Amino acid sequence: MAQLILDTKSHRGRRRGQPRRVFIPLLSLVLVILYANYRVFDVLTQIVSSPPPAKGKTDLENSKTDETNENKTEDESMTMTMPAIGFGTAGLGLETKESVKKALQVGYRMIDTAQAPEWYREDLVGLAIEESINVVKRKDVFVTTKIHPRHLGRKGMDMIETSLTNLRTTYVDLVLLHYSECWGNLCSRGEVVPGTWKEAYRELERLVVEFKVARFIGVSNFNANALEELHAFANVQPLVVQMRSDVFAQDQRTMDVCAKYGWRFEAYSSLGGQWWQYKTNPVLNNDVVKMIAARYNVSPALVVLNYAKNVLHQTIIPRSRDRKHMEDSLLRLDSFELDDEEIESLKALDGKVPSKD
Ligand SMILES: NC(=O)c1ccc[n+]([C@@H]2O[C@H](COP(=O)([O-])OP(=O)(O)OC[C@H]3O[C@@H](n4cnc5c(N)ncnc54)[C@H](OP(=O)(O)O)[C@@H]3O)[C@@H](O)[C@H]2O)c1
Repeated sequence: MAQLILDTKSHRGRRRGQPRRVFIPLLSLVLVILYANYRVFDVLTQIVSSPPPAKGKTDLENSKTDETNENKTEDESMTMTMPAIGFGTAGLGLETKESVKKALQVGYRMIDTAQAPEWYREDLVGLAIEESINVVKRKDVFVTTKIHPRHLGRKGMDMIETSLTNLRTTYVDLVLLHYSECWGNLCSRGEVVPGTWKEAYRELERLVVEFKVARFIGVSNFNANALEELHAFANVQPLVVQMRSDVFAQDQRTMDVCAKYGWRFEAYSSLGGQWWQYKTNPVLNNDVVKMIAARYNVSPALVVLNYAKNVLHQTIIPRSRDRKHMEDSLLRLDSFELDDEEIESLKALDGKVPSKD
């Protein structure tokens, strides 16, 4: 290049035709440089704009996502990464729609629901997402639902069709088997549910691979032995295992299985939702939790959510009707860092049965 510039200079002022002989190679070189830069820019743009893989996703799962993206419009392109904090909707009843809309306004981008009408209003979650289109597009909300244990024997689309209708969508991001078997009032007395969890899991796999209406699959309320069986049995590994976990029942055993297989442990009822038979919530009123909360000038809820997310590395899905609580759990959760002594004192609560008041 330097030589060419010198050449151009040295030929300046000579015969009229001569500079053109230098000009043509110079122009070619400039074009080559511009093209090379364009390629570099192009590649860089692609790297920056490609979505990061969901935490805990295997290569297989990533390739499945790409596969399911084919033939989708932009609004339905299924690339969203699973967030670490979601919004739970069990027990919200008629307030489900307004609560989910509030949660989306606050910034939640993952909503947990289920087919079971005993606890959830899948239809109101669907309405809330649809009515929040000015706030967030469907493709930017990670929607989880769960198959009712009464439906373990259903095949193919029959498993999920009502959920898609309820949720007003063409796909769900994550679908879980709610339970490995039907129990209690979930099945009417004496009712024998056809189908085992293994048969049902095979059908979930078809929802991803064949029907392309679910991006990821997983299970909930499976014990460690069933999870080991699942690992050996699955053609499509679960992305998520959703289990009850709070400071008194942390479930290290399932967390270990999840860590071993690279599955995400999603905790439900982190804020003590499973201690409903107590007059006051023993998790949020525990002395250790309250003392740590006072030290950081945060609520006890933030202490246990911070511990679950940042120490136990769980995905969390707190449920709330209260905008201030929603904001706290999503936006202020990482405003402090627990020290080793505090972590040890929270770990020590595991397995303790809180005294009734
Ligand atoms: N797979 C399963 O079998 C299963 C079972 C149970 C639950 N789940 C899922 O997990 C979700 C969460 O569990 P959960 O419903 O049992 O309830 P939870 O999240 O353990 O607790 C909810 C309670 O915590 C309060 N709360 C929420 N955020 C708060 C904050 N920042 N500060 C103070 N209080 C706060 C709420 O009161 P306010 O309304 O006043 O905020 C509510 O009383 C469920 O909604 C559901 O999606 C799954």
